[in-house]
Amino acid sequence: MNEIDYRTHFKNPQAYDKLTQSKHVSLIYQLEKEVLFNILKRINSQEKTLMDFACGTGRWTRILENSFQETTGVDVSEGMIDLARQKSKKAKFVVTDITSQNVDRQLKDRKFDVVTAFRFYKNAEQDLRYAVTKNLPKYLKDDGLFIFDLHLNTFSFMGILAGIIRFLKLHKIFGIASLTIRTISLKDIRKLFKDSPFRIIDYYGMGLLPGRSNYTILPQKFLHKWESFFTKRKILRPISYNLLIVAQKKS
Ligand SMILES: C[S@@+](CC[C@H](N)C(=O)[O-])C[C@H]1O[C@@H](n2cnc3c(N)ncnc32)[C@H](O)[C@@H]1O
Repeated sequence: MNEIDYRTHFKNPQAYDKLTQSKHVSLIYQLEKEVLFNILKRINSQEKTLMDFACGTGRWTRILENSFQETTGVDVSEGMIDLARQKSKKAKFVVTDITSQNVDRQLKDRKFDVVTAFRFYKNAEQDLRYAVTKNLPKYLKDDGLFIFDLHLNTFSFMGILAGIIRFLKLHKIFGIASLTIRTISLKDIRKLFKDSPFRIIDYYGMGLLPGRSNYTILPQKFLHKWESFFTKRKILRPISYNLLIVAQKKS
């Protein structure tokens, strides 16, 4: 794994925000929203509290704040949170490194009903993945839900392509960033969770057809219908581009 420091990686919040508006990221976002809002309806989230961990520019915080009684966005990057604040109406934000010894006092003794983490685990370096998995349970109620995604599944079409590029070292020839071809699987998460308080209780998959940033192979409307069909029925979820995972604390 090529080591970057994911805590300090986000120097250009505007560029990140723009990337999240690209066609394929937007498609996955729509599909995730459909699944997530159903889960939130089932748990009656309007009466519950949310921590959106690694909230970044608040892509999720600003819509989830309408589904919860109270929403807190947490991120180590001041710049990312600045942008998130501008776009949110109700959420509170805390700039802190969740893995540090001195987590911001506003989070002291806080326990949330739901903790989310979107577009975090895939790109985080392994040490950071472990540190976050060790620290997040402190902020989750015993019967709470931890919901997060993996945005390039190793066993999806694009994940396998990334693996081939990595194996043949083609990224060096074509100047593809190593983070772009980093993948992650459900198996990696199961390993990560083995000695942690978390266990996976369910998962969904979204994105069967090849796609990446602004490249998609079908017109958006048709593509959405096709992908939504498979996502809702959980068909072929192990080989989907993006996995949305629901975890709970082990009892
Ligand atoms: C790719 S962004 C995800 C943003 C947002 N969740 C989304 O889906 O668009 C990952 C975020 O993780 C944050 N991060 C990395 N390490 C962190 C840590 N130890 N504590 C809090 N935030 C962290 C980064 O600052 C960055 O904003």
